[in-house]
Amino acid sequence: MIVLENLSEVYDLIFIFVQLIRKNMYRTHTCGELRIQDTAKQVTLSGWVQRSRDLGGMTFVDLRDRYGITQLVFNMEASADLRREARRLGREFVIQASGIVAERSNKNPKMPTGDIEIIVNTLTVLNESVTPPFTIEAETDGGDELRMKYRYLDLRREPLKNNLLLRHRMAFETRNYFNTHQFIEIETPVLIKSTPEGARDFVVPSRVNPGQFYALPQSPQTFKQLLMVAGYDRYVQIVKCFRDEDLRADRQPEFSQIDCEMSFVQQEDILNMFEGMVRHLFKTIKGIEFSELLPRLTYNQALEQYGNDKPDIRVEMKIHDLTAVAKGKGFGVIDSAPFTGGICAKGCSEYSRKQLDELTEFVKKPQIGAKGLLYVKYGTDSGIKSSVDKFYGAEDLKQWLEPFHAEAGDLLLVLTGERIPTLKALGELRLEMGNRLNLRRKGEFKPLWVLDFPLLEWDNEVKRFFAMHHPFTSPKPEDISLLDTDPGKVRANAYDFVINGVEVGGGSIRIHSETLQKKMFQTLGFTDEDAERQFGFLMQAFRYGAPPHGGIAFGFDRLVSLFAGEESIRDVIAFPKNNAARDVMIDSPAEISAEQLQELSIKVEVRKV
Ligand code: AMO
Repeated sequence: MIVLENLSEVYDLIFIFVQLIRKNMYRTHTCGELRIQDTAKQVTLSGWVQRSRDLGGMTFVDLRDRYGITQLVFNMEASADLRREARRLGREFVIQASGIVAERSNKNPKMPTGDIEIIVNTLTVLNESVTPPFTIEAETDGGDELRMKYRYLDLRREPLKNNLLLRHRMAFETRNYFNTHQFIEIETPVLIKSTPEGARDFVVPSRVNPGQFYALPQSPQTFKQLLMVAGYDRYVQIVKCFRDEDLRADRQPEFSQIDCEMSFVQQEDILNMFEGMVRHLFKTIKGIEFSELLPRLTYNQALEQYGNDKPDIRVEMKIHDLTAVAKGKGFGVIDSAPFTGGICAKGCSEYSRKQLDELTEFVKKPQIGAKGLLYVKYGTDSGIKSSVDKFYGAEDLKQWLEPFHAEAGDLLLVLTGERIPTLKALGELRLEMGNRLNLRRKGEFKPLWVLDFPLLEWDNEVKRFFAMHHPFTSPKPEDISLLDTDPGKVRANAYDFVINGVEVGGGSIRIHSETLQKKMFQTLGFTDEDAERQFGFLMQAFRYGAPPHGGIAFGFDRLVSLFAGEESIRDVIAFPKNNAARDVMIDSPAEISAEQLQELSIKVEVRKV
């Protein structure tokens, strides 16, 4: 007889008893867990039927869950009923199977559980499944639209599961990093007033304020600045942002940012802190350590050397200005153009007519916009040959080759025209050559900072300046006087973080003076009333002791997709929208009922555009 000495022992016994009856009846292990040392254990697994094979009276079933796949065997010793039931199992049936772990005679070294199988003695079908519309395999037969419509099935596939697990780990490590640096995560509202981040807003009607609308945040920009005024000097949030813009592989209408803001900091502090975050993620998630400080380019350098403000520096091929050496030899195309520049493709001097024609077609595409392509072949045997031999002798062309330190075997590709468009076209040509020469290798990461962006961008259509980043970005103090005389020349305390040609982050030191903020609004063409109506709350806050502050936001989806080696951010989002901004699974957006419209005091008139 057990003698209980005190009450706490009674409680302990009750606790053990409750644990016993609460024990998970569905499974003792997951489908990724069992190994050779578990042989002879009686176990219960639950999961989905990946596939089932009948071989000479034995039935083999691959049982899958989030953790892996385990092979089940229904052999001759099983009862006839059990074998019949096993044969009935279809793909994606949800089952529970109990049995004994046994060593496999035919081991599968590719699977972590490949040394064992379960000799099943009890089978329960927990739920049946209709035949799935595509195979739930890494390489599926399902097309894009179909997989989006049945996203919950797509998500059962290994590549997507791995991406979501990666996303989780990256979010966790991000929070870990910021937590150790005294950042606090603060949620900001989703129903707000328009924030000017350059895209269109998604709007939400207010029932209790008829005729009025909330806007969904394009980012929490103004709120994080208000948090700085409130004294929370290190803020972070992994946050949903909403932008109604044309979609591309790296854009979704709703996406996530790692959004941050800090007070009492200068640009250098911010660059160090967030470079630290990127290093932490690469180290903990990918085991990659960057030994040196990450490269920094100014916006102008990026444009001049790479023709792009988000250069993919895995492709080394830098642009060189050939204007001075190329002008004045009687070739009208070059003589009349303000800029001539080129890139040097190593080892491509033997490019055929056809390959050069393809490149010419490439640069003439409307989105690239060049009029034609000139080339200089520095052949290993044949010497220097070019498409401009009529105007330039070998000695002239040697001067073209010089800035590239070109060697025999190289090919110079040259464009000529207006400076900025030609630099940008050369930038595209670099990337095209990078693709052709396989220089944009997956698994190689080349991060860098791009600094000193222009504060303003002139829009020729509406004939006014726009903020290149957003209107809260501070000009460089030494450029402030240019705001009155030459606003286009003002540089901003703004920076982007770029990895492999993808803009993964952008931020700035902010304006924290009401007077300067007002001036900025004026430069952007806001009337005082407009500025007051849209941002009166921020200007008001700046009167109550706004600290110097700045921040940055990283596109979390873009960062995860880079780490995952995926082309599209859709592959790292559980339930993304398609290119027409639709969720085809839940069929959204959709019309709403007449009652809902009435409650919202809204009358809908769909106009054809
Ligand atoms: P920005 O507009 O540069 O800055 O955005 C920051 C980062 O967010 C990502 N991003 C997107 N990702 C997916 N889909 C989209 N539609 C999309 N738009 C942007 C990019 C980008 O670098 N409030 C400022 C940040 C700041 O100043 O602190 C902001 O939102 O990776």
